[in-house]
Amino acid sequence: MNTGTPTPVILDVDTGVDDACALLLAALHPGIDLRGVTCVGGNAPLREVVANTLTVLDTCGREDVPVAAGAAVPLLEPYADARHVHGHDGMGDLDWHKSARRPDQRHAVELLRDLLVEAAEPVTLVPLAPLTNIALLLRTYPEAARGLARVVFMGGGAQAGNATASAEFNVFHDPEAAAVVLDACAELEVPVTMYGLDVFYGPRVSRAQVRDHLVDPGPAGLAARLIDFQCERFGSPDATIGDAGAVCAVLDPDGLSTTRLPVRVELAGTWSRGRTVVDLRDWDGDLAHDPHGQAPAVLDVALGVDGERYADLWWRTVSGSA
Ligand code: BDR
Ligand code: CA
Repeated sequence: MNTGTPTPVILDVDTGVDDACALLLAALHPGIDLRGVTCVGGNAPLREVVANTLTVLDTCGREDVPVAAGAAVPLLEPYADARHVHGHDGMGDLDWHKSARRPDQRHAVELLRDLLVEAAEPVTLVPLAPLTNIALLLRTYPEAARGLARVVFMGGGAQAGNATASAEFNVFHDPEAAAVVLDACAELEVPVTMYGLDVFYGPRVSRAQVRDHLVDPGPAGLAARLIDFQCERFGSPDATIGDAGAVCAVLDPDGLSTTRLPVRVELAGTWSRGRTVVDLRDWDGDLAHDPHGQAPAVLDVALGVDGERYADLWWRTVSGSA
């Protein structure tokens, strides 16, 4: 657990119910120095994503954190939102008091470049959304990678998909961007942690846990209502904190089990476009017979999580009981 100097962090989001959970944690935990947040179209159209992001930060009293709008649509794929999961406004249709703040005038890619180039110490970038902005950043301004300590992204999965049987939503939404980011990080020697579907559903908070906070006007109330919305939506007594788990992984890496594995993104495939092909083989035997060779991108792939520990970290922080 990080108890020393706060870790400099930038989030890239498509807020999004669980992105909102991640923003709450990053905005409120003293172990994170939140330098900026960039937005991309994903769970909801870009306009809603920006409005939701500002609303969460302002609820936390974090009007100091710059928020910038980035790519509205993927590089090649047609845009398709996930409002059937996240509500029409992308954040659970909670009728929460909205922020009046305007976003930063810079494009997300320019804000990312400025924050990374100007950073006195390396920053951890946490993309929780389709990787369009990050692909554009790393190909337009590769020098910005010098400001990166690592990338911890929510996306992909070794075993399962959700958008399709094969592919996870963030990678499926913009597979070319995900492929560019993995290759660029390998070329630029930026370490990458993949917080994917193998762990995403592990940290869970129950409806009973949040019940007493539902009418609270501050961050605890927003957190409670986000959990409550998901429980209602899925008819479940508890809900994942989703993207917030990737922020927990920055604060408390010991709660996550990772294995260094080669990963490629499937860009063709009739049934598998957008799948992260995680190479779980023992390399001693098979490489000589594999026409593809080893993927250049070798990531720290999260295969196990202490769900209780992360859920507890999240709820204690956002409810103010830490
Ligand atoms: C991811 O897709 C979105 O629905 C969530 O916000 C999360 O980032 C899970 O596949
Ligand atoms: Ca997300």
